[in-house]
Amino acid sequence: MAKVYIKTYGCQMNERDSEQVAQMLIARGHAITANAEDADVVLLNTCSVRDLAEQKALGKIGMLGSLSRQRPVVYGLLGCMAQSRGSSLLKDVPHLDLVVGTQKFHRVAEYVEQALDRKASQRWDDVRFSIVDVEEEAGSQSTIREHLLRPKTVSAFVSIMQGCNMHCSFCIVPFTRGEERSRPINEIVAEVEQLAARDVKEVTLLGQIVNLYGRHEFPKMDGKSPFVQLLEAVQEVPGIERIRFTSPHPIGFRQDLIEAFGRLPKLVEHIHLPVQSGSDRILRAMRRTYNRDKYLDLVGRIRATSPDIAITTDIIVGFPGETEDDYRETCELVERVGFDNAFVFKYSPRRDTVAAELDMQVAETIKEDRNHALLEVVNSWAKRRGEALVGRQVEILCEGPSKTNPERLMGRTRGNKIVVFEGSPRHVGQLLPVRILRSTGYTLYGDPAIHSN
Ligand code: 5AD
Repeated sequence: MAKVYIKTYGCQMNERDSEQVAQMLIARGHAITANAEDADVVLLNTCSVRDLAEQKALGKIGMLGSLSRQRPVVYGLLGCMAQSRGSSLLKDVPHLDLVVGTQKFHRVAEYVEQALDRKASQRWDDVRFSIVDVEEEAGSQSTIREHLLRPKTVSAFVSIMQGCNMHCSFCIVPFTRGEERSRPINEIVAEVEQLAARDVKEVTLLGQIVNLYGRHEFPKMDGKSPFVQLLEAVQEVPGIERIRFTSPHPIGFRQDLIEAFGRLPKLVEHIHLPVQSGSDRILRAMRRTYNRDKYLDLVGRIRATSPDIAITTDIIVGFPGETEDDYRETCELVERVGFDNAFVFKYSPRRDTVAAELDMQVAETIKEDRNHALLEVVNSWAKRRGEALVGRQVEILCEGPSKTNPERLMGRTRGNKIVVFEGSPRHVGQLLPVRILRSTGYTLYGDPAIHSN
């Protein structure tokens, strides 16, 4: 039995992949530890979407490898950076044993055991296992399907597809995650049913381009896309109270999906809808295939069906060639939509992508300034959206103790806003009406309405 430390960088999809790896290791008798220094196996599940994420993982594995150890330790880099850099990582990280790509998470436990055996049978201080597996594997989208048996898990991620065929010019994901491949509806529903049997109340369906789920595999039915068919099927699972999904692309966000928000009671009023830029010129260079007006029109149609829906987004500043005017158009779009929240990223050139080769890369100081200024616009809207809920009664799903003050509980509204309140442990896992008392930036404070009424 080995003690395994797993750290995850990046998106929810990566977290979900790490959970699969952890579950398989536990099923084979190993234990997960939160303490890297005392672990027999160190696995970093990596992110490549920006350079900073890669540097963090490389720094961490370097630091952990430099600690003096009294016994053999297996080191592995998994996931996106492993996929895109492959065996070159063995050169960059001299003590690295495993490089396992995004289609091979289900093999990690086996490789870990082989590496441990090899190290135990030799003079371990100069043995390196050096296995690199970054092959494609047919059906790998169906290998992320098991969940950790943690008590009181209220909300769970479900990976419904892998890969992306969009080839936005800034994005490395098509190279790290491969072609779009979707799991069948019945398989996903079976997974959701198992989660419901374990008292999970909320599922978040995950895909790099989630609204295009199944477009290569499954036909439309009654004018409904495979994704809407899937939402309808998950809606029918008893015990599941809320359905979320992330992230969709504005392309392929059609009327059947918009109408689903008015029709399926479990589908919550929140959409994370990455816009990336408010300038048509930049959107074209990004190969996003919509323009500013189309995005605004989509938001208008969504709000016509669900007036109170929360909309969040991703924005990149400093894409090659972005002028002050382009940037101002982005700020103006943010004001126009009034997002509930937005992630703002400084453009980071990625290997193999078209944008990395473009002339007119924007200076780091300009990216920094635009990032900072745009965040102020974003924060002021987030604040306004939060304050609009003060005095209102909202439904929250209680997830557990608040991270900042474990004496209190936290839950989320259907619009994905965090609410902190005084409650008792029996509230965990419950849907509760809460009256919002005040709002500080991104956190709301509430009082359970069942007490005050
Ligand atoms: N540089 C900066 N941000 C990026 N993103 C994707 N690729 C890059 C890049 N090269 C951002 C996009 C995407 C989010 C997950 O990360 O905004 O929606």
